[in-house]
Amino acid sequence: MTSEPDDIPHPQGPGLPDPRAARRAFLSAVLRNPGQMGAIMPSSQRMARLLTTIVPRTGAPVVVELGPGTGAVTSVIDACLPETARHIAVELDPAMAAFLQSTHPGLEVIEGDAAKLEALLAERDVEHADAVVSGLPWSLFDDHTQRSIMSQVAEVIAPDGAFTTFAYSHGLLLSAARRFRHLLHETFEEVVVSATVLRNVPPAFTYVCRRPRLTV
Ligand SMILES: C[S@@+](CC[C@H](N)C(=O)[O-])C[C@H]1O[C@@H](n2cnc3c(N)ncnc32)[C@H](O)[C@@H]1O
Repeated sequence: MTSEPDDIPHPQGPGLPDPRAARRAFLSAVLRNPGQMGAIMPSSQRMARLLTTIVPRTGAPVVVELGPGTGAVTSVIDACLPETARHIAVELDPAMAAFLQSTHPGLEVIEGDAAKLEALLAERDVEHADAVVSGLPWSLFDDHTQRSIMSQVAEVIAPDGAFTTFAYSHGLLLSAARRFRHLLHETFEEVVVSATVLRNVPPAFTYVCRRPRLTV
């Protein structure tokens, strides 16, 4: 794994969420429920861009985001999606879901559990997603939860779709993080690991996964 700096500033301007309000909302969620957040800061812009490399730029794709938090990655997805796309975000924390809906009025926000992804999408007449972008804290999940959510992801991804998620570099010392990497290889035929983003807090990398085996 190589490393590269993160020198891309967060997008700012009319219509975009105030980064300070987003950081406050994020911190308040961390204090309220640290065991569900798994992070102390929203993802950096470089991390968001790496996570969104799988987002289709043309056609009418369905993009599903899991654990969007305060929307650091959401805004980058929105910026590259065509107008004909659907962008659906599934967030467990009610306050974060409300914050996200207020800052991204066009986004389809579902306050719900990623472990019920298939049913949540079916309620909205969505069978397949062309891209699933995850901000979930996988290394906080036990084996059962990791497998439940991952099997739902594998079920909803279109045959030529893709899945991305991030992991903290220091986290690979944890057995849950190594278990998760193993699960990705069990679930997908292709798993590509990115360079480490040093200026993410803490430094992290992405997994880009394609071709679910559908045997999990
Ligand atoms: C590390 S934060 C990531 C936030 C954002 N994607 C980012 O990169 O800055 C993890 C998010 O996942 C959400 N989350 C945790 N478990 C979840 C679940 N089972 N279903 C949906 N969201 C979940 C948390 O509430 C939190 O907003």
